[in-house]
Formats: sequence, structure tokens, C-alpha cells
Amino acid sequence: MHSDGVDYGALVWSDDLVLGIEEIDTQHQEWIALVQAYERAVRDGGSAEEVRRALAAAVAYTESHFADEQRVMGEAGYPFLDDHIEQHQLAWERVHAFDGKGGEEDLRENLADFLPQWLMLHINTADRQFARWLRGDDETPCAAAAVEGRVFGNIPV
Ligand SMILES: [Fe+2]
Repeated sequence: MHSDGVDYGALVWSDDLVLGIEEIDTQHQEWIALVQAYERAVRDGGSAEEVRRALAAAVAYTESHFADEQRVMGEAGYPFLDDHIEQHQLAWERVHAFDGKGGEEDLRENLADFLPQWLMLHINTADRQFARWLRGDDETPCAAAAVEGRVFGNIPV
């Protein structure tokens, strides 16, 4: 379990995660599948090579997904894009802190804990805030949503 004791739920795709933006929803499904594969490789005691390969695939997809999502937001003129990019960057830095090329198993296990939880939280808060804004029904005070999206232990993402 997580050091902060907060559980944002198992990493499972469901209709609850649908934002109504087709390109992003499709990518979120693929992203979740890749992170699940990584999580499974760690949990099921996959070989170091299997774990490394699954992590590399998840990390590569994370990078291209962040870029695509930021492009969609930029094209839409999303006013909170800078804040969203910052959230992506903080997660990205944390992922790379674990993505050492050495075989540091405990770090990979730690990441297998962090990444699925961060992903569920991020989709359900920051990404959903964008979807609401895009639909024009963002009644949620953005500051409140942003603060909610940043709660992850003491990690400001
Ligand atoms: Fe995002």
C-alpha cells in the first residue's frame, strides 16, 4: 500500500473514465493497458528483462500521450494548459527518477505502485477538468479541482 495511505483504486479501464474526447479516451485505454502490463510483470515476478521492456513501453507511451494531450488542449485554447503541463512534468520527473537503466528492483516496484494510482487520479481530476471546460459546463471552481488533482501524498501532482 502507499505511504500516504490513500488508494485511488485499481488501474482498470471503465466507462467512468470516459471524458468524451475520442482521441484522448482511445489513448487513455491504450496507456492503461501498457501500464497494467508493466504492473503485472512486476507483481507476477516477471524476469528483469520482461519488467524492463514493459516499463520502457509504458514510459514511451506516457511521453507521446502527454504530448498529444497537450497539443489537443493547446489547439482548443485551454486556459489552464500551463498548470496541466506542470502536472505532467512532475509525474514525468518521478517516472524518470525510477527509470534508471540499472536493475533497481525496489524502485520499479515503487513505480508500479505510483504510476497506476497517479494515472487514475490524473484522468479523474485534471483531464476531466479539461473535458468539462471543453463542453462548457465547468461549474467546478478550477482552483478547487486543481488542488484536488495535486493531492498525492506529498507529491504535488
Ligand atoms: Fe493529462
